[in-house]
Amino acid sequence: MRNFTVLGIETSCDETAAAVVRGRAPGPGKILSNIVLSQLEEHAPFGGVVPEIAARAHVEALDAIVEAAIGEAKIEPAALDAIAATAGPGLIGGVMVGLTTAKALALAWDKPLVAVNHLEAHALTARMTEGLEFPYLLLLISGGHCQLLAVEGVGWFRLYGTTIDDAVGEAFDKIAKLLELAHPGGPKVEALAAQGNAKAFGLPRPLLGREGADFSFSGLKTAVRQIVRQPTFAAERRADLAASFQAAVIESLTDRVGNAMALFRSDFPDAAIRTLVVAGGVAANTAIRNALSALARTKGFQTKIPPPRLCTDNAAMIAWAGVERSQLGLFDGLSTGPKARWPLSHAPVGGSRTSGARGKPDQP
Ligand code: KG4
Ligand code: ZN
Repeated sequence: MRNFTVLGIETSCDETAAAVVRGRAPGPGKILSNIVLSQLEEHAPFGGVVPEIAARAHVEALDAIVEAAIGEAKIEPAALDAIAATAGPGLIGGVMVGLTTAKALALAWDKPLVAVNHLEAHALTARMTEGLEFPYLLLLISGGHCQLLAVEGVGWFRLYGTTIDDAVGEAFDKIAKLLELAHPGGPKVEALAAQGNAKAFGLPRPLLGREGADFSFSGLKTAVRQIVRQPTFAAERRADLAASFQAAVIESLTDRVGNAMALFRSDFPDAAIRTLVVAGGVAANTAIRNALSALARTKGFQTKIPPPRLCTDNAAMIAWAGVERSQLGLFDGLSTGPKARWPLSHAPVGGSRTSGARGKPDQP
């Protein structure tokens, strides 16, 4: 099978990104360019991402970002096999900007379009970086997503658990706000936590010891809020509170991942190597990475965590999903619409394999 070269476009949240990736399944792929423009400054005064501002900023930046990605890759558009763009899930205004641009380029350059599910792109990133074979266990932890799934193939997932309230990155961002740290709070909470005592505050460990692999973080967030709002809470104790919060998150995550590992083991008893992949922005957290790697070692799993710049939102992962889909001939028509919600599919694409879906609802 030959190599495929794909331009990827990502605009589903507050990063405007374009990248060119070349490769073939199962990877690894070669990132020829990977340009990410963060809109942090635009959103900073509002303490969070404002969808309307995000969409406008994507419109203003995207053309130049695509041009830079093509230029840095040192390829002619004619050499591309496809144009891939995030078609959801995400903020609909931003998704529309990226998908429409991709359609225009596909039409102008006479290339096929690949409408990429952003979650699938996160899920396949470890193949681009490591050349990983299916199946593997994926923990996807970001600002919008918190899921544990078996990745069985392109477009083929088995859901073990999802959050019943907040995503873990969202919890980090809300705690950051309570501690008066700037957005996005995850990295700032981690830095503060490194200076604190994780045993200083006894915080709840949501769902700990319960069966299944679902997550819950809103009770933990409420407990932190109650502590911060106490008139006696002193600013010097913020580091201790951040450390205690992060420790509670880690204990809850490792408990849930441990259960998912048991489910994966019984679903795939013959897998020669069992792998845990951690993806999404929260995978950039060193304490979380270390705790998950340690857990995996005790459970007989190897751990693969893409580098932070490929764990947070980027277009290389969209281009790679485009490579995998192009190779399978999975292209999309120009009438494909953007989707604010788009759960990962439980059925194999192409329909030739039988699905082991657990019949559980998924969430974006
Ligand atoms: O994958 P991503 O870039 O965007 C989404 O699709 O959500 O993830 C961003 C999320 C934010 O909630 C951010 O606070 C969190 O990932 N995050 C972190 C860290 N770095 C980013 N959370 C905890 N510790 C970090 N070091
Ligand atoms: Zn993401």
